Amino acid sequence: MDANGFLLKADGIRAGYGKLEILHGVSLEVRSREIVSVIGPNGAGKSTAFKTIVGLLHPRSGRVLFDGKDITGLPPYEVVRLGLVYVPQGRIVFPQMTVLENLEMGAYVETDPGRVKEALTRVSALFPILEQRKRQLAGSLSGGEQQMVAIGRALMTTPKLILLDEPSLGLSPKFVTLIFEKLQEMQQAGYTMMVVEQNAAKALSVADRGYVLELGQNRFEGTGQTLLNDPEVKRLYLGG
Ligand SMILES: Nc1ncnc2c1ncn2[C@@H]1O[C@H](COP(=O)(O)OP(=O)(O)O)[C@@H](O)[C@H]1O
Ligand SMILES: [Mg+2]
Repeated sequence: MDANGFLLKADGIRAGYGKLEILHGVSLEVRSREIVSVIGPNGAGKSTAFKTIVGLLHPRSGRVLFDGKDITGLPPYEVVRLGLVYVPQGRIVFPQMTVLENLEMGAYVETDPGRVKEALTRVSALFPILEQRKRQLAGSLSGGEQQMVAIGRALMTTPKLILLDEPSLGLSPKFVTLIFEKLQEMQQAGYTMMVVEQNAAKALSVADRGYVLELGQNRFEGTGQTLLNDPEVKRLYLGG
C-alpha cells in the first residue's frame, strides 16, 4: 500500500484501440480489503479500464500504481506476479480439462508445490462445489460453476487484488445471488476486489465504494450506499 492507503490507484488513464481513444482520463482507486464496484452503460469503457490496469492495453497517458509500485505499461505476466489478477468477462475456462487442472493452471506463476497445495485448500474452502467436482471436465459444469472455476483459478496465485469483469453476466438468478454471496465471503476471507457489473443495484449493495463510468469518463463516485440512494444514479442506472 502507498502512503495514502491505496492498494491500487489508476490516475487519469487515457487508452483505447488503435487510433480510437476510449478512456479520456479515467481514475479508479481501491483500498486494501475493499469491494469496489464499477458500473455504467454498455460501451462506457469499463472492460477497457480493467484491461489497461492489468497491462493488456498500454495507456497513452496517466499511470497505474499498485502496492506502492508504478506498474504502468508492465506486461500482464509481471502484473500477475505482483499480485494483481484479472478474471475476464465470459467465465473463460479450459473446457476439456478437469476442474482441478483448471485450478492448477492458475498457479502457473507458483513454483513451490507446497504453496500450490495450500492455495487449493483455500479455494476449496471457498468453493466446496469445486472440490466435489474436481475430476469433472470444466466444460460439463453449469455457467455458475464455471464462473467459480474462473474465480478460483485467479485465487490460486494468492493475489492482493482481484479484478472481476461481469462475474454475474448470463447466469441464472440463483447463481447471480450465489456469486455476489461469494464476493462477500471472499472479502471476509481477506481478499480485495474491484468488480465491473451490469447488475448495478446488486453490485453497489455489496460494495464499500463504487464508480459510475460513462463515455470513457468518471461520472459519479461514492460509497455503495451513497450511490444506491443518489436520485440521479437511481434514475439513470438503477432503473428507478
Ligand atoms: N478490441 C477492441 N477494438 C476496438 N474497439 C473496441 C475493442 N473493445 C472494445 N472496443 C470499444 O470500446 C468501447 C468501450 O468498450 P468496453 O470497454 O468493452 O465497454 P464496457 O465494458 O463498459 O461495456 C466500445 O465502444 C467498444 O466498441
Ligand atoms: Mg465490458
